[in-house]
Amino acid sequence: MAKNIVGVDISSGGIRAVEVRDAAGARPTVVRYESIPLPEGAVLRGEVVEVATVVTALRQLWSTGGFSSKDVVLGIGNHRVLARDLTVPKMSMDRIRESLPFQVQDLLPVPVDAALLDFYPISEGQSDQGPVVNGLLVAAVKESVDTNVRAVELAGLNPIDVDLIPFALCRVLLRGSSRRGLVAIIDVGSNTSTVVVARDGVPEFVRIISAGGRDLTDAIRSEGMLTTDQAEATKLSLGLSTVGVPVAQQPIVEVIYKVAGELLNSIRNTLTYFVGAHDQQPITQIILTGGGAKLRGFGQALQDGTHIPIVIADPFGLVAVDRRVASRTASGTSDAACVALGLALGSAA
Ligand SMILES: Nc1ncnc2c1ncn2[C@@H]1O[C@H](COP(=O)(O)OP(=O)(O)OP(=O)(O)O)[C@@H](O)[C@H]1O
Ligand SMILES: [Mg+2]
Repeated sequence: MAKNIVGVDISSGGIRAVEVRDAAGARPTVVRYESIPLPEGAVLRGEVVEVATVVTALRQLWSTGGFSSKDVVLGIGNHRVLARDLTVPKMSMDRIRESLPFQVQDLLPVPVDAALLDFYPISEGQSDQGPVVNGLLVAAVKESVDTNVRAVELAGLNPIDVDLIPFALCRVLLRGSSRRGLVAIIDVGSNTSTVVVARDGVPEFVRIISAGGRDLTDAIRSEGMLTTDQAEATKLSLGLSTVGVPVAQQPIVEVIYKVAGELLNSIRNTLTYFVGAHDQQPITQIILTGGGAKLRGFGQALQDGTHIPIVIADPFGLVAVDRRVASRTASGTSDAACVALGLALGSAA
């Protein structure tokens, strides 16, 4: 029987780990889910900065979480991930993957051997030279995951794979009927937001926006001359609200609107760009995830600005979940497990 796999999401806010049984089978099941917060600065934009801190946290996570496997899949999804349309001659997927380094050097900002490359086929076509496959090329700077891999190894774990976070999100959130149509997944994290557009479950477009919930906290902190903790609490209590706010807090409300407005604009422009470049077909649904999207009023503002219906991600509502995990995870709070779950499921590929 295949061993259980643990997806590990190392984020600025903390480490989240989800153990999945039968990841490759017909009925993958979440058997453990645990997270541990990280101190500020230990991880930045998905990259481990303080190795010792992260190693200690991982060891503690394994002892409190009771994970039965040390085989882990890590994610990569920061601003150093690049996705482009690419058309290649029709070949087997293995041969396409082998040929990527020769095809893509001109598209990349780094030498080919410094990049992790992958290709996702979308459609087939014809060119003057014969049949072709149109797809999505994804490249990530290897160096940005090296330290994460090392931290995981130092914690006594066995990294069996590194996968792209945008695809991990698709694997979890585009299951069953939610696959159908042109769907955008938007993950608003701390410093990074990810936009993926998929057609009938197949990702066609990925953009990483270098902004997230942390930008709001930072802006509130400087405007109000507050500590980070105070600014964070202010953000949570105010959200995108205008009613019942004391006059003294008005400048802070304005800052929240300005910074959240910039992020909402970037997301909207990204979606408009996709639609413009893809035959003007409308996006039928947005699936929203990530802590930054919990800002009160954010989902509504995004829906008003894009005229696209929004649903909030509920990863544990989409896969089988062991009773003990389900009873410990209040309904609607499994959102933070999204990336880790998708990474574990990806080991099935
Ligand atoms: N209720 C809330 N209202 C507003 N913001 C919130 C709320 N809950 C969490 N956040 C914000 O969400 C952000 C963290 O989101 P998340 O946990 O998805 O990020 P992360 O995965 O740790 O970071 P990243 O993916 O960028 O590495 C923080 O900026 C936090 O302030
Ligand atoms: Mg995240």
